Amino acid sequence: AASGIGLATAKLFAENGASLFLVDLDQETLVSEVEKLREQFKTGIAFQVVDVTAEKEVKKSFEYLTKIFGGLDILISNAGNAIRGKIGEVDSATLRKSFELNFFAHQTLASQAVQLFQKQKTGGVLMFNASKAAFNPGKDFGPYALPKAGVIALMKQYAVDYGKDGIRSNAVNADRIRTKLFTKEVLAERSTARGLTPDEYFKSNLLETEVFDTDVAKGFFDTALAEKTTGSVIVVDGGNIAASPR
Ligand SMILES: NC(=O)c1ccc[n+]([C@@H]2O[C@H](COP(=O)([O-])OP(=O)(O)OC[C@H]3O[C@@H](n4cnc5c(N)ncnc54)[C@H](O)[C@@H]3O)[C@@H](O)[C@H]2O)c1
Repeated sequence: AASGIGLATAKLFAENGASLFLVDLDQETLVSEVEKLREQFKTGIAFQVVDVTAEKEVKKSFEYLTKIFGGLDILISNAGNAIRGKIGEVDSATLRKSFELNFFAHQTLASQAVQLFQKQKTGGVLMFNASKAAFNPGKDFGPYALPKAGVIALMKQYAVDYGKDGIRSNAVNADRIRTKLFTKEVLAERSTARGLTPDEYFKSNLLETEVFDTDVAKGFFDTALAEKTTGSVIVVDGGNIAASPR
């Protein structure tokens, strides 16, 4: 939650009075962003440096958040990274590394969250940050697209297995959001491949308008509050028919 979509989502929830427990791997940025959030909002904000791919760390952080806040209402499973490679040639270590972050970390977080929701007997909300890549994979982006497709299946499985316990599970699919995920190299490669400047690239959708991290945050916020919605993919990408769920 130290940058990009995670941080924008944290801000929107804080603005609306939610208490926040924020985790990220990047200690320096997380600490400085939490300081800014605490100055801006009166709501309770706790944080911890956690590698979401390390199951033991995640378990400990759930114990810590339970001590601080007494429980959990909404999980936003957001961390991810765009790992590239041509699928027939990529080494298995790269592919597995991507699955650890872009799939298994979501499973670890969701599994901890549902166990807590069940202890609380409160129901709860699971939200996953998937990607348009789950439905519309980009060329040489298999290591990212495959686990993201898995995240959509994971989201549905939680909706099926825990709906009766009042636990809702949904995913947000974004595309082309100007965050740190678009390193200079990735941006240059993706935009020039389409013959576009970076600015044109970010606007190349049906609405011909750039989509921001704050727009994606709204997707998370609105869906978290949509009490009768589960098993769904909410798309926040300005419109891309090739990436629409089908
Ligand atoms: N930017 C886009 O266009 C886009 C599109 C679709 C989906 N997404 C998804 O949105 C999510 C957020 O990405 P973003 O675009 O905001 O990028 P970002 O790089 O700004 O944010 C990702 C955050 O995740 C953190 N992180 C990475 N590995 C971690 C780990 N092992 N443990 C804990 N934290 C870790 C990073 O430190 C960073 O703060 C990702 O899951 C990404 O796949 C982004």
